[in-house]
Amino acid sequence: MAMEIQILTAKSSKYLANVNVKPSTTIKEIKEELLKTMKAPSLERQCLRLDVKGKVLSDSETLQSLNITDGTKLYYKDLGPQISWKTVFLVEYAGPLFLYLWIYQRPWIFYGSIDTSKYDTAVHVAAICWAVHYAKRLYETLFVHRFSHATMPFRNLFKNCSYYWLFAMYVAYHVNHPLYTAPSCLKFCTGLTLFTLCELGNLSTHLALRNLRPPGTTVRKIPVATDNPFTVLFNFVSCPNYTYEIGSWIGFTIMTSCLSAAVFTAAGAYQMTVWALGKHKAYKKEFSQYPKSRKAVFPFIL
Ligand SMILES: NC(=O)c1ccc[n+]([C@@H]2O[C@H](COP(=O)([O-])OP(=O)(O)OC[C@H]3O[C@@H](n4cnc5c(N)ncnc54)[C@H](OP(=O)(O)O)[C@@H]3O)[C@@H](O)[C@H]2O)c1
Repeated sequence: MAMEIQILTAKSSKYLANVNVKPSTTIKEIKEELLKTMKAPSLERQCLRLDVKGKVLSDSETLQSLNITDGTKLYYKDLGPQISWKTVFLVEYAGPLFLYLWIYQRPWIFYGSIDTSKYDTAVHVAAICWAVHYAKRLYETLFVHRFSHATMPFRNLFKNCSYYWLFAMYVAYHVNHPLYTAPSCLKFCTGLTLFTLCELGNLSTHLALRNLRPPGTTVRKIPVATDNPFTVLFNFVSCPNYTYEIGSWIGFTIMTSCLSAAVFTAAGAYQMTVWALGKHKAYKKEFSQYPKSRKAVFPFIL
């Protein structure tokens, strides 16, 4: 059955084009048509929505699955120059890894000549933990995550990098400072144990999420606990990867007992809580059978 849909600009609802479609036409095919007929930019730059502020329509969705009928209006936006997610993540995570280790290995650049042999064990272990965490993230970006979006707006690169790079320098500056005082052995061991367990939990969650999505697809499923005991947290929250990540940084903060680490933990926890609440809401909207007792990120609380 042939039908026609209207494309308007998202900014001012100005008419752009009419496109002839069928119920089986996908959003990707509409974008290809716009590329041909109105010289729209590459598919990754195009964004189509049913409402000006509605959900971004995914390339693989068909008009039928979206209940789009003859005469429906779609709102078009040019997202601007794009950059691949993988590149953003690699730059975002390589920065904190190298900056922290640079300050750790060459402290005299920042503090003048100091005797690094007087460094407490906590300083060395903190550097190892920091490096392991970001090396793990680089590994996951390259070999674990199956992202559903190939690209993101180029300007996000600067926003994301500033956050991670500046925080890495802020934390490294204070933990490697000659006047830094390490905590008691009990605090150090408690923090290190929490950090290690949460890193394993975070990796386990990422592996479970990867296995939900067949390679080359953008399938999204209800995540469930697997044979790996760390994934049991899926029975309590929608985003255990964020729960574990927050736990890791609480562990790091206890282990170093440094205020700058606490500030970094608080900023990350706030950001991940906001994202988890959004993802939790989206799960409940998308899956009618979504487990009612699950919270977003903090078991039984939020
Ligand atoms: N310290 C901080 O401030 C901070 C902040 C944010 C993140 N992080 C770390 O970075 C990690 C990754 O963050 P993220 O925000 O990308 O995590 P995420 O949204 O949970 O996604 C991780 C991967 O799993 C996929 N995925 C998620 N839910 C899925 C589902 N139901 N079915 C199939 N696949 C699914 C995602 O695909 P899509 O591409 O479709 O989303 C993505 O490839 C976090 O877990 C955390 O460790 C740290």
